Amino acid sequence: MSHPRYLLLPLNLITITLALLSQRSQAQLSPSFYDCTCSDVSAIVRSTVQQAQTSDPRIYASLTRLFFHDCFVQGCDGSILLVDSSTIQSEQDARPNKNSARGFNVVDDIKTAVENACPGVVSCADILALAAEASVNLAGGPSWTVLLGRRDSTTANFTAAGNLPGPFDNLTTLQKKFSDVGLHDIDLVTLSGAHTFGRGQCQFFSNSRLYNFNGTGKPDPTLNSTYRTILEQNCPQGGNGSVLNNLDPITPNKFDGNYYINLQNHRGLFTSDQELLSDPNATTTASIVNNFAGNQRAFFNSFVQSMIKMGNISPLTGSSGEIRTNCSVVNSGSGLELHIQIRHDSDTGSAAE
Ligand code: HEM
Ligand SMILES: *[C@@H]1O[C@H](CO)[C@@H](O)[C@H](O)[C@H]1NC(C)=O
Ligand SMILES: *[C@@H]1O[C@H](CO)[C@@H](O)[C@H](O)[C@H]1NC(C)=O
Ligand SMILES: *[C@@H]1O[C@H](CO)[C@@H](O)[C@H](O)[C@H]1NC(C)=O
Ligand SMILES: *[C@@H]1O[C@H](CO)[C@@H](O)[C@H](O)[C@H]1NC(C)=O
Ligand SMILES: *[C@@H]1O[C@H](CO)[C@@H](O)[C@H](O)[C@H]1NC(C)=O
Ligand SMILES: *[C@@H]1O[C@H](CO)[C@@H](O)[C@H](O)[C@H]1NC(C)=O
Ligand SMILES: *[C@@H]1O[C@H](CO)[C@@H](O)[C@H](O)[C@H]1NC(C)=O
Repeated sequence: MSHPRYLLLPLNLITITLALLSQRSQAQLSPSFYDCTCSDVSAIVRSTVQQAQTSDPRIYASLTRLFFHDCFVQGCDGSILLVDSSTIQSEQDARPNKNSARGFNVVDDIKTAVENACPGVVSCADILALAAEASVNLAGGPSWTVLLGRRDSTTANFTAAGNLPGPFDNLTTLQKKFSDVGLHDIDLVTLSGAHTFGRGQCQFFSNSRLYNFNGTGKPDPTLNSTYRTILEQNCPQGGNGSVLNNLDPITPNKFDGNYYINLQNHRGLFTSDQELLSDPNATTTASIVNNFAGNQRAFFNSFVQSMIKMGNISPLTGSSGEIRTNCSVVNSGSGLELHIQIRHDSDTGSAAE
């Protein structure tokens, strides 16, 4: 007798799940996603980020970068926040993140504050999006309306994180890595402008730009020689590769348009920065650099658009993914959660029995 019943139950579940999926497959991110369930979420994120900055002047930059490193790896789904476990090989251990990506403790603080106000509602992926916006704006950059409604992944991709855009990449490679996620020259040049604040370690430029450009044993000829002298003092050959340098020496903690002026002065820190202007093929990117160098307002407007575009990279919506309780780990018992989700959404108590 239990046999037909056994068959019936999963069929019901499958039918309901499919109905929910198709109903929500149109799901788009929306600025009002938490209006009824957590209307203060933006303010909570902003105040926690601002508080963190009082003891960590670099945090605005670090949180802005975290959002980028999240979105470029299987979409904006909080995957970068997952630590090693039996099912997860953490993206945090991939080369571009290891001993480099930071701000995870502040994300945890934000999550705690948000959970206190509205438990189980706000995703870690959305927290990263909100924290990036708050950071840029608090550092003097533009503000914008953040689109929300992302859900959190139950997976991470260590290999894909290893393939994030890198400081040694040439323009062609950068263009390819951006176009792979639907971003183009305007987004590449605009988002690179985030290197207007924060720090970079010697290891990401000293050999390639100061001491052994392309195997020549000489400096990169596209590097300003006055700037090079300063960098050589902070990053002696064979020295400590973890020593930090300001990405924008003029206003290290401020979000402004100086990045592009620096590029015009051959003061881009990484190969990937100066390539936007100096690569022989950089006609399109160079004209964007030159436009932004003389027009901070145009840069800010473009930055808002490109951040929104980056924030739209394959989000999980509807019934895919989950709302993590702890941003560092996937929820336990995801099968059970599917049942609970269905009961809440469609009041089918018997099917979920
Ligand atoms: C275009 C390709 C990009 C490359 C190759 C690149 C590479 C890097 C590298 C190597 C660092 C220094 C990390 C360290 O020394 O530990 C860095 C820092 C940073 N990057 Fe990028 N980045 C790129 C694009 C972006 C984008 C799109 C954003 C954000 C929209 C961004 C925001 C930042 C920020 C704010 C920092 C400073 C972080 C801190 O001080 O903690 N970068 N980037
Ligand atoms: C992880 O990323 C790599 C490289 O981008 C890709 O080839 C692979 O299919 C991804 N793995 C999964 C499980 O999605
Ligand atoms: C850019 O880098 C890629 C990967 O290292 C290389 O294959 C390509 O030849 C380089 N392109 C140019 C124009 O230097
Ligand atoms: C780097 O060196 C290789 C081999 O010597 C050469 O073919 C290439 O043009 C050089 N690239 C640059 C950007 O100078
Ligand atoms: C290298 O520099 C980093 C950053 O300044 C510092 O924390 C670390 O202790 C240094 N390591 C050595 C071996 O000096
Ligand atoms: C090097 O930097 C200085 C200071 O910004 C600037 O005046 C000079 O024009 C730069 N040189 C080159 C070749 O860009
Ligand atoms: C860059 O320009 C060189 C010639 O200057 C050409 O051989 C190469 O294919 C170009 N690369 C791209 C990606 O357009
Ligand atoms: C979240 O998970 C991490 C990793 O397991 C753990 O170290 C941390 O204590 C957890 N945080 C909370 C608030 O439970």
